[in-house]
Amino acid sequence: MTLLYCCPTPAYNPAITHDDRQLTMKIFSSSFGEYTLDRYPKTQDVNLQAWDAGDHYLLNHLADIDSLGRVLIINDTFGALTTALYQHDITVWSDSKLAELSYQKNYRLNGLPENYSFVPSTETPKGLFDTVIIKIPGTNRYLDDILLQLTALVKPDSRVIGAGMAKYWTKKWPQYFADRLGHSECSLTWKKARLILSNTDALPVKQAAVKTSSYRAEPLEMTIGKLSNVYGQDYLDVGARVLIAALPDFNGRQTLADLGCGSGELGLCALSKNSTINVEFIDESYQAVASAKANVMTNLPGAIDRASFTCSDGLIDKDKNSYDVVLCNPPFHQQQTIGDHIAWNMMHQARNSLKPGGELWLVGNRHLNYNNKLQRLFGNCDQVGGSDKFVVFKSVKT
Ligand SMILES: C[S@@+](CC[C@H](N)C(=O)[O-])C[C@H]1O[C@@H](n2cnc3c(N)ncnc32)[C@H](O)[C@@H]1O
Repeated sequence: MTLLYCCPTPAYNPAITHDDRQLTMKIFSSSFGEYTLDRYPKTQDVNLQAWDAGDHYLLNHLADIDSLGRVLIINDTFGALTTALYQHDITVWSDSKLAELSYQKNYRLNGLPENYSFVPSTETPKGLFDTVIIKIPGTNRYLDDILLQLTALVKPDSRVIGAGMAKYWTKKWPQYFADRLGHSECSLTWKKARLILSNTDALPVKQAAVKTSSYRAEPLEMTIGKLSNVYGQDYLDVGARVLIAALPDFNGRQTLADLGCGSGELGLCALSKNSTINVEFIDESYQAVASAKANVMTNLPGAIDRASFTCSDGLIDKDKNSYDVVLCNPPFHQQQTIGDHIAWNMMHQARNSLKPGGELWLVGNRHLNYNNKLQRLFGNCDQVGGSDKFVVFKSVKT
């Protein structure tokens, strides 16, 4: 059933540039006050801001409620919700290290005490919540997984509200809410966003299993498992396949980073080809890092002492001279924003953390012309593999 939901008068102002030197830092005028917000990582694109109409819609809805009680915020992208609700008893649940760094950055920008608890997606928040707000994630598998786990975190009088943008809306979303939480209704579209409102008074049977999937990666002769929000489908990514086909055994090299490891296929390939190399699996997704670890333990248990696992914004915290080799199949988007800014950051980070003579092996879609960027950054770039759509480049730190 669809509810014709009327939004309270929106306190929506177009974003006002706050500081010309900080192009993307803008004032967020919300129903819970005004805040300076920025994205993490910073982007040079002045059209991008740290919130969307879904954040406004959720906050407008919450502003009409007398007492929010314990609040669980799920999948807040850059911290608009976490910041605006700072005076409440909030727990923030997310799969993204970049999002976590955004929350910290925006609390600092606004001089707020960091009094929220952050729970990574690989753990379950403690206790029961009165109010749950969800920014609907990019994959249905992860949304359904969140809702499955929510059944153990809400009470019959809790309220659960999801927000998504109309351009990505699918009938499956309200269906997932209804299947997992019980009676659910959709709002009207407001500024291109919509809400799903679930009342949890007749919760279906609790089903708290965390979803995983697996596939057989033939070139590696391994079975690869992944948690629900990990990049990719149930087959080896085409770019990863092309990079794996080009990789040598790296004999004589000691340290290798699988940068943006996802479920760990590139690092697994290096570990299996070379019996002495140490591989660090790095991703900004908590679930990716956990999946990569599980995949090493399942497929190469004897190599686990040569593997380490880090959830971080790439190599940002790494010293110069950390690695002999960096392998990378970079993302071309952050959340729903398409662009090469993360890939560019990763190239810079790799250049910084490689030892002299160390090599970056990077795969990308042919039309992205990553060779121009690599040539500019490293002063050299060779094509060492490819297919009709993908190219593998190698750059050496001189
Ligand atoms: C195209 S996928 C590659 C996954 C896997 N290596 C493969 O080849 O199939 C890019 C990966 O980069 C991760 N990622 C995106 N931004 C990142 C960042 N700032 N730091 C570390 N990892 C990041 C994503 O979570 C995703 O797992």
